[in-house]
Amino acid sequence: MSALTTEKLSETVGVKILGVDAERLATDEDLPGQCLELLERHSVLLFPELHAGDEAQVAFSRKLGPLASFPNFPNEHVMIISFDPDNPNAKYYPSNDYWHIDGSMDEVPARASIMSAHVITEEGGETAFASTYAAYEALSEREREQLAELRVIHRMARIQSRTFPNPTPEQKADWARFPDREHPLVWTHESGRRSLVFGASASHVVGMDFDRGEALLEELQERATTPDRIYTHTWSVGDLVIWDNTGLVHRACEFDRSLPRRMHRSTLVGQEPIK
Ligand code: OGA
Ligand code: MN
Repeated sequence: MSALTTEKLSETVGVKILGVDAERLATDEDLPGQCLELLERHSVLLFPELHAGDEAQVAFSRKLGPLASFPNFPNEHVMIISFDPDNPNAKYYPSNDYWHIDGSMDEVPARASIMSAHVITEEGGETAFASTYAAYEALSEREREQLAELRVIHRMARIQSRTFPNPTPEQKADWARFPDREHPLVWTHESGRRSLVFGASASHVVGMDFDRGEALLEELQERATTPDRIYTHTWSVGDLVIWDNTGLVHRACEFDRSLPRRMHRSTLVGQEPIK
């Protein structure tokens, strides 16, 4: 097994993988296993300027695990992230600007995402990441005890109203199609590790005064995402980033949405519910 050369991207999250090109991505049979190990440890992997096309990206993603399907996109394993008016999901993407876990409205959120930059903007449009394992580890013993049993309601309207505070009746009806989801605040993973579950969908804490619960969730998020606890990726065309969606929150950074920006994302389906 040839070792991978890596470089840390920040104190708590992210590692850059050097010396892998599209050819090695396709042929190195040890690489998927090594990536999964690095992903568990660092939560975000960056392959700079890899320039993997959709086929190469999907073929590699498959070696990491089973893929989610997006039937409304031309390649069902590649979700296009863009504000192009033809993009069937464009109406949901503005809320990517808020810290979130992909699929937090699902019982089993995605395991990981693999995203390539195809078109980028000169300014803005970075993607930021923060470890929710590190967020749990930074709690005091007393806080861990206080939070241990709390449960949180996740709500589509909570996510979307961050972008659309005055929704139309149509928007309200659309959001209401997604049932609320209750998750524990502390996720005890099958590996034994613990992470915090917060983000844009987190509405309030079950059995706690609504405003107090909301304030608690906001405080935990703020502490977990201070500048020294995040990695913000400034994209170059061709960069491929893999993020572990289970111990991490991420967000897109602002850019001029009248300019094209297009990312191609494949997703590994989740393997364990939040519990
Ligand atoms: C996503 C996402 C962030 C970005 O695709 O799930 O949050 O920077 N994208 O586009
Ligand atoms: Mn996302």
